[in-house]
Amino acid sequence: MNLPSNFLWGGAIAANQVEGAWNVDGKQMSVADVATYKPQLDVKDYKRNSAITEKEIKRAINDKKVKNYPKRRGIDGYHHYKEDIKLFAEMGFKVLRFSIAWSRIYPMGDEMKPNEKGILFYQSVINELHKYQIEPMITISHYEMPLNLAIKYNGWSDKRLIDFYVKFAKTCFLSFPDVKYWLTFNEIDSVTRHPFISAGIIPDRSENLLEDEYQALHNQFVASAIVTKLAHEIIPDSQVGCMLTKLTTYPASCKPEDILTTLNKNIMNYFPADVQVKGKYPELILQYFKDNKLSINMTNRELKLIKENTADFISFSYYMSMIAAADEDGLKMTSGNTIVGGQNPYLKATEWGWSIDPVGLRISLIELYDRYHKPLFIVENGMGTNDKLEKDKTIHDQYRIKYFKEHFIEMKKAVSSGVNLLGYTSWAPIDLVSASTSQMSKRYGFIYVDLDDQGNGTGKRYKKDSFYWYKRVIDTNGKEL
Ligand code: BG6
Repeated sequence: MNLPSNFLWGGAIAANQVEGAWNVDGKQMSVADVATYKPQLDVKDYKRNSAITEKEIKRAINDKKVKNYPKRRGIDGYHHYKEDIKLFAEMGFKVLRFSIAWSRIYPMGDEMKPNEKGILFYQSVINELHKYQIEPMITISHYEMPLNLAIKYNGWSDKRLIDFYVKFAKTCFLSFPDVKYWLTFNEIDSVTRHPFISAGIIPDRSENLLEDEYQALHNQFVASAIVTKLAHEIIPDSQVGCMLTKLTTYPASCKPEDILTTLNKNIMNYFPADVQVKGKYPELILQYFKDNKLSINMTNRELKLIKENTADFISFSYYMSMIAAADEDGLKMTSGNTIVGGQNPYLKATEWGWSIDPVGLRISLIELYDRYHKPLFIVENGMGTNDKLEKDKTIHDQYRIKYFKEHFIEMKKAVSSGVNLLGYTSWAPIDLVSASTSQMSKRYGFIYVDLDDQGNGTGKRYKKDSFYWYKRVIDTNGKEL
């Protein structure tokens, strides 16, 4: 059960959850900068935690305080990146997945000239990574588009976004030509689950939200195809991946109706990857558009672009699995990554309700490889927990080690059964602000960051027990778990 010797071990982060410096060096607001931490809500209430209205956005724009908006401060990665990368290097990282804050490069999104200071920042991040022979993997868009594009155009529902994104991506390719691995959109399928965060669509402004969501998704497919082509032209050895949320769903029982419901859910989860890997819309999805009277504007030229510029590899996030039934009344519902689903009675869950399912990772890898026959990359997997910083500044996170260990065992089994897996990046190697709840206390890292949900703390970094464990895993290429 050996992993390939060039297996890319590392970690994954996103600009809006790490950098802070929301209005520094020319950066303007992104959709992430209006997200508030809502202590009054149940952390398991995914829908209400990620919901936003036009009124709340306006209020946030006029509120210049950082306190109420944790993603404006992140973990101040903008000023700590050298220290953080050094720690990643100490763990032996071969790759770091991170994103470029679009609003640092094109602060409003629709201007013609990029912000040089933004470009310089990422050039120095990349130089720092190369200093330690860490391969950068860049997510071009990770839940952080310029807020102006949401307000002025209602986000990706407007086709003009394609050109703005292409301009942004082209600037990235030309400015960071040493980067081989690129991902076009983080969790592209999530547009229909959290349209504002993913696509800048302000829900209460849309007349037909479902139609806007699928239009936005289509526009992202087109943009993704164009920039895949561009990347190959500008950086000849580049590899461009699609990125999906792997929402593995099992039937709650062997009742045929439950199996059918589950089948349909999984088809909907796969469809964005189908388009980006197979180069065409599945017939079942086109029929779904018709049945729901969704009129999606797609031209022959766009469909040709999608067909001719498919993804080089498939990357995905995997945290949990869930169950489905034709009649949801009998199911205990729980939250998961960007979704609420049925809780599997055979599995334990995290404090945030996410079911822990290592075998589900193996199932996901096999399913994805069998469906697409393309190299895979696990670009997110991890466990959000409340960690305790002891008086002597140690953190004993055996539960995290257990989580990863069990997932790595299943990952290795999938590889030994023939799955072509390029690498693995944990989410996240360092504590950061949660995407869904904007909490700091939902900690994922091997490195502890001394900040609380209100932003109090020294911001100092401390190594958890899992830090030393992951270092050993990488040192032995996964042999010693
Ligand atoms: C994925 C996102 O949905 O899951 C990350 O790509 C996110 O940005 C991660 O942080 C974990 O979710 P959360 O809500 O616990 O931060």
